[in-house]
Amino acid sequence: MCDLLLGQVICFNDTAMTTAPLDNAAFAMVHHTQGGVVVDQGKIQAVGPAVDLRKAYPDARIHDYGTKLISAGFIDAHVHFAQTAIVASWGKRLIDWLNTYTFPEEMRFDNIDYARAVARTYFDLALSNGTTTMCSFATIHPQSVDAFFTEARSRGMRALAGKTCMDRNAPDGLRDTAQSAYDDSLALLNRWHGQDRLSYVITPRFSPTSTEGQLRALGSLWAEHPDCLMQTHLSEQTDEVEWVKSLFPQARDYLDTYEAFGLLGANGIYGHAIHLEPREVDRLREHNSAIAHCPTSNTFIGSGIFPMTDLADTLRVGLATDTGGGSSFSMLRTMAAAYELGQLRGTPLTPPALWWLATQGAARSLHLEDRIGNIAPGMEADLIVIDLESTPAIKQRMTRAETFQEALFATIMMGDDRAIDQVWINGKKHD
Ligand code: GUN
Ligand code: ZN
Repeated sequence: MCDLLLGQVICFNDTAMTTAPLDNAAFAMVHHTQGGVVVDQGKIQAVGPAVDLRKAYPDARIHDYGTKLISAGFIDAHVHFAQTAIVASWGKRLIDWLNTYTFPEEMRFDNIDYARAVARTYFDLALSNGTTTMCSFATIHPQSVDAFFTEARSRGMRALAGKTCMDRNAPDGLRDTAQSAYDDSLALLNRWHGQDRLSYVITPRFSPTSTEGQLRALGSLWAEHPDCLMQTHLSEQTDEVEWVKSLFPQARDYLDTYEAFGLLGANGIYGHAIHLEPREVDRLREHNSAIAHCPTSNTFIGSGIFPMTDLADTLRVGLATDTGGGSSFSMLRTMAAAYELGQLRGTPLTPPALWWLATQGAARSLHLEDRIGNIAPGMEADLIVIDLESTPAIKQRMTRAETFQEALFATIMMGDDRAIDQVWINGKKHD
C-alpha cells in the first residue's frame, strides 16, 4: 500500500534549472497550497494537488500535515561529522583553529567506541535538522568511516564520506603516508562504495597536509575509480593560500596543486573556493567541477565572502554547513547565512534560490540530482515536513506574509530544528 502525504508542497521544475539556477529558481519553484506527495516502496510516485491525488490513489494511507510544508530533505554538501563535539569553538582563524581545536578532537577517533558515539550524535542532530543526505569528511582513522557508514546504513540514509588523508603538517597520531592513504582508502572504497545508499568519497584534506606523493597516490586512486567523488578544501583563507604557494612554489595557483596530481575533475567537490584566481575559475568550469559553499563557516572562521552570483550560473554550487567550522547543523541557519553574505555583496539571494541550493543544488554538486533533492516521480523519497510557524517570532511574522515566498523567508531567516516536524527516509517515516 502506498502513502499519501498531504500539506503544502514545495518542489522544483527540473527542466528550467540547467542554466542560471539562482535567477531561474523563482520560475522553477512549484508550490501547491493544498498538495500531496505519493510514496511507494521508497520512491516518489506522484506529486500534485491533494484533490487529484486523493482521487487517483483512493487506497493510499493518508498522512495529513495540514498547512505544514512538505519538501525534499536538506542535503549538506560538505561537513565534518567528527567535529561535532567542537562546534562553536572560540576565536581562531583557520590554521590556528585546526591546530587548537580540530586536530586534538580528531585524534580521539582512534578509539572506535568514541567514533561510534559521535557518529550517533551527529546523525541524530542532522536528522533533527532535516538533513537527509550529507557528504562528510571523516578522520584519518579508517574506523571513523566505518562508524559513519554503519550509522547511516542503520537509518536507511543516502550518505557519502571518506577517510581524510594527511601525511604532513599534522600532529603525531594524525598522519598517514602516501601508501597507507591509498591502501586504506581503497579498502574502505571496496567495503562501502555502492553498498545500500552509501558512497565512498576520496578525501585528501587539503594540499597543505598532503605531500606531492600523497596527492599523486590519491589522484591515481581516483583515476582507477572515476565514479567516486573526490572532496577537498580550496582557497578558504588568504593566509592558507599564501601557505600553499610557499609549499608548492612551482604551482600556478592553489587549484594547480590538485590539478597537477590528477585531483581536478567533474566528480570533484571543492569546499569554500572563496579567493579564486581567474585561471582557477576557468579550470573548474572546463572540468565541470563543483563547489560547496559553506557560509556559516566562512563567517565563523572569518574566511571571507564567497562570490556566489559570479560562480553559480556556470558552476555547480551546493550549500553546506562545514560543521564544526560552520557554527550550525541546520541548513535553515546555513541558508540565512548565505542570504546575509549575498547582502554584503549587494546580491541577495531569493527564497527559492536559497531553498534550491540546500536541496537540488546540493544534490547536483554531488551528482545525485536524478535521485535526491527534489520531489518528482521516480526520485527517492527523502522528505521533510516543515512547520512554518515553529516559534512565536516566526508565527507573528507570518500574520503579515502576503506571499508564499515571504512566508518561506521567515522560516529561512529565523528557523532551526524546531521547524522540522517530520522526516521521511527512503519512503519510511523516521521517529
Ligand atoms: N581546511 C582543512 N581542513 C579543514 C577543516 O576541517 N575545516 C575547514 N573549515 N577548513 C579546512
Ligand atoms: Zn571543511
